[in-house]
Amino acid sequence: EKLKVITIDGPAGSGKSTVARIVASKLGWIYVTTGAIYRTLALLFHEANIKDTDLENIERFISFISERYRQESSTGKVFIGEREITQEIKAPLVSELASILAQEDSVRKRLLPIQRKVVLNNHGAVVDGRDMGTVVFPDAPLKIFLTASAKERAERRWKELNQNGQKTDIKELLREIHERDERDLNRAIAPLKAAHDAISLDSTKSTQEEIAKAILQFAMQKD
Ligand code: C5P
Repeated sequence: EKLKVITIDGPAGSGKSTVARIVASKLGWIYVTTGAIYRTLALLFHEANIKDTDLENIERFISFISERYRQESSTGKVFIGEREITQEIKAPLVSELASILAQEDSVRKRLLPIQRKVVLNNHGAVVDGRDMGTVVFPDAPLKIFLTASAKERAERRWKELNQNGQKTDIKELLREIHERDERDLNRAIAPLKAAHDAISLDSTKSTQEEIAKAILQFAMQKD
């Protein structure tokens, strides 16, 4: 049977996860935001007061995540066991730590089977991240590379955090986005880049619904 996966890669705040969720719900597929898995690992590191350089500790966290991590497709909520961590993993501190840990080969290697397992247990999936089309699902029949200007991305993050009652400074967010882009684009292993067979879309001036609609049209053409 054909692999039913649509990959959406792109930088922080490009709207990947919202778009992935819309597309998945239209197709009746699950959606998986793989950044949330990196963020969950970062949260566990942070709460255990472990430095991002102490990677010997990673093994127990990985098995913990592998057994207990769950993402609810209909709402996008993230759980570790019974505990909901959807908002906590969006905190700027966790974002930063996630992107630092994501530079490590040992981290990426261990998170790889978790990402594949979540998807392949299901009938069809829309997955978003940085290396979905290049590393995790290189055989996906439809790959999207979604971008938007850094300014637009910072504004979206600001709105999202603000809605959740987290006060942040837009200039600070813009600085963080640049810093994270820099790290994600330039790391040695699985850097953020479009797969050679990906379709690039720019969401700066489009709504997430419009982008989702375009992706659904590409999906129809592939069928
Ligand atoms: O997508 P999101 O911004 O939630 O991801 C958080 C961080 O996790 C990113 O900045 C990136 O460094 C890392 N990540 C990754 N590969 C993925 C998904 C996320 O390296 N597939």
